[in-house]
Amino acid sequence: MAHILFIPGSLREASSSRATARALAARLPAGTTHDTVDPGRLPHYNADIKDDPEVAAFLEKLKGADGVVFVSPEYNYSIPGLLKNAIDWGSRPAFESPFKDKLCLIVSTSGGALGGVRAQSHLKYVLNGMLARVHPCKEIVVPMANGKVVDGMLEDDAILEFAEEVMGDFLSACKGGAAAG
Ligand SMILES: Cc1cc2nc3c(=O)[nH]c(=O)nc-3n(C[C@H](O)[C@H](O)[C@H](O)COP(=O)(O)O)c2cc1C
Repeated sequence: MAHILFIPGSLREASSSRATARALAARLPAGTTHDTVDPGRLPHYNADIKDDPEVAAFLEKLKGADGVVFVSPEYNYSIPGLLKNAIDWGSRPAFESPFKDKLCLIVSTSGGALGGVRAQSHLKYVLNGMLARVHPCKEIVVPMANGKVVDGMLEDDAILEFAEEVMGDFLSACKGGAAAG
């Protein structure tokens, strides 16, 4: 059975990215477990910080995950600084970090029509630099996302059904993935 870690790229209470992560988590197959990181709890990256409990908890969650699902908005054509900060914490030691060989899936959201797709390419580039394994798939994007949040969950059957299909492949690829049986 796979254990999946969701990393959202927004702190907003009404965030469409968080709502998307919740909807995706609700569609995980039985037996697949998941957890969600709150990247807002992490301090700004500083190599002098050696014993921060939030950083330690984040690194443990990262190490323990069979797969990581990023659900993030696009900020100024790239990934939010919040998300980059979390990734930077997870990226040490270089090329031997918890991200090395970690299977990652990218989902992007946007208040606009392009669904944050430009941020996806930046995120892939960053993850590649850490030797993470970005799951190859058609991009999962959620355009006009803010109008699709109902009671804290994304509501868009077509996107969620497509995402569920891709997540099935992703879970198969994860070490111990549920779909791999
Ligand atoms: C600082 C900032 C930069 C943004 N830049 C973009 C952008 O480049 N492309 C885009 O599609 N939307 C952009 N947006 C709009 C976001 O897509 C929208 O606010 C989205 O709902 C944020 O995600 P959230 O709902 O998870 O908080 C930006 C929003 C903010 C606050």
